[in-house]
Amino acid sequence: MEPKYIRLLQERIAKGSERSLLSFDTAIDFWSNDYLGLGKQLQQVELSSGSGSRLISGNSKTIENVESFLATHFKAEAALVFNSGYDANLGLFSAVPQKGDTIIYDELVHASVRDGIRLSFAKAFSFNHNDLSDLEARLNRAEGTVFVAIESIYSMDGDIAPLNAIADLCERYDALLIVDEAHAGGVFGENGIGLCDEMEMIPKVFARLVTFGKGFGAHGAVVLVSKTVRSFLINFARSFIYTTAMPEAMYTHIQGQVLKAQENKLREQLQAHIRYFRSFKPSPISAENSPIQMLDYEELETCKAVAERLQAAGFAVKAILPPTVPAGQQRLRICLHAFNSKAEIEELCRLL
Ligand SMILES: Cc1ncc(COP(=O)(O)O)c(C=O)c1O
Repeated sequence: MEPKYIRLLQERIAKGSERSLLSFDTAIDFWSNDYLGLGKQLQQVELSSGSGSRLISGNSKTIENVESFLATHFKAEAALVFNSGYDANLGLFSAVPQKGDTIIYDELVHASVRDGIRLSFAKAFSFNHNDLSDLEARLNRAEGTVFVAIESIYSMDGDIAPLNAIADLCERYDALLIVDEAHAGGVFGENGIGLCDEMEMIPKVFARLVTFGKGFGAHGAVVLVSKTVRSFLINFARSFIYTTAMPEAMYTHIQGQVLKAQENKLREQLQAHIRYFRSFKPSPISAENSPIQMLDYEELETCKAVAERLQAAGFAVKAILPPTVPAGQQRLRICLHAFNSKAEIEELCRLL
């Protein structure tokens, strides 16, 4: 057994792209997804737990009230909270598309969507990233109920999907659109509802996923769907059924964080910092209003060396290496926040 794992690890080390855990005692944060800084505000969270799954002892009226609040807040008919975005995508994609159906997904969609698809009995095909004609070609050949899976803002590119055009295509081909809003929640739209709201296309979306561990600075995720699909997930989504629910206080904490994220000033500050960063280092990959700004490097070693230089200077940044991104597309991921100061951004850009 052991030699096989050692060989696989050595292969990765030889490619220069081994993963390792990083931590800093103190560092200037340009790597977390806490875009508004809501996660940094110290809070006391009472961690008593129902010690069971939501279907047994893990449920409560309080939790269901939080879900009703989330449905209303995010302009959905119903909401179901999962323990994480990973769990939510796993449950949604493995349960909803059935044998004989087709899932068409953007080639850059998050690993959690892909893992959900792997657990599904539906057929699945990728389409070229943000490529409408490739998507249409796939839609033409699809069978059964057709699902299209995209992110509104892509986590490793920081670019934004042509949401309205994709929604219109889905409508024309009678396909059901699923949008992962993990990195848009809190950051875009009135009250931080997300990009689908900003683009006024919520009614055209079959399911949205919003995570709370990023822009909302909490934990967990919500799937926003119809009442019927919510009941279906409660019955068939295994990552919802077969796991211990989060402590009740985490659900009320989520509600509190979502309410705090209504503060438009935080979003304005964040956008000002994104503009300031881009005035020095305009990313050719990322959208101009994205809190994720990716800088690409031709050489893997240069990318790693720049990350290490910044880390040594007290900046928490992360080099994103293959296989997280395709071979040859190594990049530095700079996450901007409402709380970063202009001086920090200037110094970061000077070092870059
Ligand atoms: C697009 C996308 N979807 C889902 C997830 C998973 O969310 P969570 O971290 O809550 O498991 C992530 C997080 O990395 C993500 O970037």
